[in-house]
Amino acid sequence: MRQALPVIIDCDPGQDDALMLFMALNAPEFDIKGITAVAGNVPLSATALNIRILADICNRVDVPLFAGAAQPISRKLVTAEYVHGKTGIDGVDLYEPEVKLQEQSGVDFIIQTLTQAADNEMTIVATGPLTNVALAIKQAPELVPKIKQIVLMGGAMFEGGNITPSAEFNIYVDPEACQIVLGCERPIYMFGLDVTHKVMSSTDRVAAIRKIDNNVARAAADMLDFFDRYDALKYGSEGAPLHDPCTIAFLLKPELFKMKACACQVETHSELTRGHTAVDFWHVTDKEPNIHWAYDVDREGFFDLLEQRLALYEN
Ligand code: BDR
Ligand code: CA
Repeated sequence: MRQALPVIIDCDPGQDDALMLFMALNAPEFDIKGITAVAGNVPLSATALNIRILADICNRVDVPLFAGAAQPISRKLVTAEYVHGKTGIDGVDLYEPEVKLQEQSGVDFIIQTLTQAADNEMTIVATGPLTNVALAIKQAPELVPKIKQIVLMGGAMFEGGNITPSAEFNIYVDPEACQIVLGCERPIYMFGLDVTHKVMSSTDRVAAIRKIDNNVARAAADMLDFFDRYDALKYGSEGAPLHDPCTIAFLLKPELFKMKACACQVETHSELTRGHTAVDFWHVTDKEPNIHWAYDVDREGFFDLLEQRLALYEN
């Protein structure tokens, strides 16, 4: 078997972040160095509690957990309780798990982990606003060569936005952070709404997950039941898009996705289009590609993988 991939996971749970963590935390393919929480879907106090609860549900209390940035780099925090509920992971009950956060800040943890890594070794998975990752890059630019790749959920091109007509939530919340990440000159795999809106859950798929009948799958189904409501009401869809798990699904099974190398810039000036990701999908400029943009996915293959991985939990 291949050596496990060293990974840092940065997230803002969020029910879809939770499913991303469920897929990652029992995968033998990963050596998870730590999970960092960032403010996004809900404030940092809630996302930091949520990573503790989610690691506890998965019985992975050995993974170090960190709280990162409480605010975007230069803007006021915008949250999304209207999508994810008050706690961010509505659908499961909150409790105070035994596992605690490490004292070190999430940003310092990313810097320290990169310091100890070899060149081109560390994978960063980011499924919230990019504040923590960008601050680490800004504070220690000499460590950027240690990054093998950044696999992130964010952005929208053909699909249009989900928080404004032109912007996706994660990028809208901290466009300056996105700009820093896009400029890092390391491989970036970007899963925006163009592809995440193609992995909608459905009543059948949620029922199949519930049938798996272990703690983790039950928590996943309970959260999906909640998460589906917003999209069903707003877009008339049967289920909700599983945005964040696309990152982990890609690392586990890249052949599920179609990717294209593109140049991408983010809007940081206009209030109207703040956070819009201008992806040069048709190569109409001569700008060098700085990302791999996901534009299609095998939906059934994605859900099969999700179910297979949830079924591997023992509790
Ligand atoms: C992204 O924003 C959050 O609401 C989700 O967790 C996902 O990361 C989708 O726009
Ligand atoms: Ca998220």
